[in-house]
This record gives sequence, C-alpha cells and structure tokens, in this order.
Amino acid sequence: MNAYQIIAKKRDGGALAADEIDYFIHGYAHDKIPDYQMSALLMAIYLNGMSFAETATLTRSMLESGIRMNFKNIPGYKIDKHSTGGVGDKVSLVLAPLVAAAGVKVPMISGRGLGHSGGTLDKLEAIPGFRTNLSIDEFYQQIDEIGVAMIGQTERICPADKKMYALRDATATIESVPLITGSILSKKLAEGIDGLVLDVKTGVGAFMKTADDSRILAESLVKTAALNDLPTTVFITRMDEPLGRAAGNWLETREAIDYLKGGGASDLMELTLALSAEMLLMAKIVRSAEEARHRLNELLNSGAAFRKFCQMVEHQHGDVSILHEPEQYPRSKYELHIKALRDGFIKEIDALTIGLSVVQLGGGRLVMEDQIDYKAGILLHCQIGDAVKKDQTIATIYSDREKAIAEVDCALSKAFTISGECVKKPSLIIDVVRP
Ligand code: URA
Repeated sequence: MNAYQIIAKKRDGGALAADEIDYFIHGYAHDKIPDYQMSALLMAIYLNGMSFAETATLTRSMLESGIRMNFKNIPGYKIDKHSTGGVGDKVSLVLAPLVAAAGVKVPMISGRGLGHSGGTLDKLEAIPGFRTNLSIDEFYQQIDEIGVAMIGQTERICPADKKMYALRDATATIESVPLITGSILSKKLAEGIDGLVLDVKTGVGAFMKTADDSRILAESLVKTAALNDLPTTVFITRMDEPLGRAAGNWLETREAIDYLKGGGASDLMELTLALSAEMLLMAKIVRSAEEARHRLNELLNSGAAFRKFCQMVEHQHGDVSILHEPEQYPRSKYELHIKALRDGFIKEIDALTIGLSVVQLGGGRLVMEDQIDYKAGILLHCQIGDAVKKDQTIATIYSDREKAIAEVDCALSKAFTISGECVKKPSLIIDVVRP
C-alpha cells in the first residue's frame, strides 16, 4: 500500500478500507506523507465523498493521532456542547455553568473566533486574567472539584486535524461533509465524554448556508458519532440574524452574565434552555424535557448557575469582581448610534455584515495572529419581527478606531431591512436530529 494508490482509489470513486485511511492519516500526522499528497486526497474526498463507515474510520484515525482524555476516575456523566460557529453565539458561557449547576460534568474545549464568526475562548478571555490554557491535569482536577472547565485546544489533541484544517483552508476543501464531520468529532471524541450536543448553524452568518445542507451534515455527525460510540444530538438552528443582542467579545460576555443573573434576549434563552435540557435528558438526571426546563429555570432564578460561573472564573484565575460590577469594564473611546431609516418592522439583520463589522471595529480577527480589542463590538436594540420608528436607535457600535466607526456606520445601514408590513419572527430551532 502507498499514498499514490490510496489517492487514485478515492479519485476514481472507490471506498477506502480502514487500513488505508489509517496509513494515510498516521503517515501525515507523523510527517511521512507530504502536504501535496494530503491535498490531493482531501480534494478527492471533497469531490467523491465518503460513506458513513469511511467517515467513522477517518474520525477514529484522526482521534488516534493524539491523546484521548480519560475521566473514568471522576464520577458522573460528562457531556459537551459545540456549535459550528456564528455571530453573537454566547450560549456556551451560560450553558456550561448552568448544566454543571444541575449536577452534570461539562468538560468543554472551545475555539477562537476567525473572520465573521466569534469564538468562546475570546469571550472568556475578555474577563481580565481568565486562563483558557489549563494543563490536562488542571482540567481533570477542576472538573472533579466544580464540574465545569472551559479551555482551548491543546497540541496533544488531534494533531492530524490541526494540520489537515490548515491545508483544507488553503486548498478550498473546507466545505466537505465527511471532512467537517471528521474534524469536529475527532476533537470531541478526544475529550473522553459520554455524550455530545451539537448546534449546526444555518444561514448567511454560518458556513452551512441552507437548511438542506445542514441536515446532511447533521445526519453525518449523528451517524458517525454513533459508529464511534458517542451518543450525539444535533440541533439545526437559524443564523441569519445574530443570536441575542450583542456581537463582540466583552459585550457578549456581559450579555451572558446578565442572562445568568436573570434576564436576556428571548432567542438566546430559547436556544440555551433547549440545548441544556437535551444535555440533562442525555445524562438521565431528568425524565422529561418539561422537568429539565423547570430545573434549569430554578437554577437560573436562584442564582446557582451564576454562582457556578463565578466559581469557574475564579478557578481559571479570572477577575470575579467584574462579573458583579460589569459596568466597571473599560469603555471604547467611540460610540455611535445607528438609527432606523423609516417606520416599520425589522425584516432582516444580516449576521454576516454584523460579524465582519465587529472585525473591522477591532473585535475579531482576519488571521489567527491578529490582536483583539475585547471592548469593541455592536449592541443590537432590536431583533427580527420588532416594530421600530424612524430615527429610533436600532444599534450602537463601540470601537477605539475612529475611521472604522464611520465605515461600519455605512455598512450597517444596509444590514438592517425594515419592512412596512408586519414580520413574523421565524422559529430559531429548525430541526433536531437524534440517533
Ligand atoms: N469546525 C471544525 O472544527 N472543523 C471543521 O471542519 C469545520 C468547523
């Protein structure tokens, strides 16, 4: 067996055997197969696809390129939630402490923002001092002690994915269902969890643009996870308008804090409760979705979820005082209010434009090396379906970059579509795919 033969087989539409996939992935991870041959295989997979069995083997093989965490010595059900990324998605910041407060262990490994799409690690690091680079031993210890920890990818988890993702980015092979499936699930399997809930975002602000494509990905994720013995539920949710009211790291963290203290945008609440309830059901600590929601609401209203968040921030060296007095956070030099151009109903808030505007304001990155201004971002004062009056403030932008403020002002006036007719807000959750 050699790399050439394996590439040719996939190029001609053949199904790869497990030993062929293992040979290729392990060879690549150990620098025995060069980038140009991996690029050719990636393109062959992109063009010809993979069966569920092949995708499951690819996933397992990528997982085996690194370590697999082992929580066996820590009692309790361990579950994670992961989103494919969007604008204003601060669900993890609320969900992780909330589910942990209910008694389920949440070892969460998250990513950073890139382009228009935000990342949970950046939102956490907006809290002064917060450490997302815990060692694996510190991670285990914190899960044992308080039931929740949120960290970044380590070098030892799925090194094959890190190399392959960079290559996919450069070879136009990101948008491949088997490759996305392998990439997401290999990292989640490496966490050594008992269950997983995924949020596949759909719409202009997501990388899956249509509900049909999202369903194909969701089915691939659920089946591939099952073949690797990881019970997984996938929610398909709308990402054509930003989630909640804030886009930009600190603004989103603050929105999550407000929600944990008992208030927040209804769509953020709806999605957080739906995903969290599913996690409680999978952990079998409740018998029905109603019981789960009742329990979750109690944990929010009693302050238990907020206390768990504070506990996690403290354990990870973050400044807890800012959670109690978020108004003390430094403010941007410039603020600008965006006004409605006419009376009517909000029909569209283009999530992609909002996400790219946050980057322009200094709140995101175009390449991984870019520095982030955590204060920068956009607060929305309306959502799809809301009635607005001409000259009413519909958004506020925050930045230290004077020039960017003017440019974003111009871009944002086109991001909002106001209709003269009443607009019904579409349902946020499009579908739920279970094994
Ligand atoms: N997220 C990942 O981790 N990998 C992909 O390929 C796409 C989204």
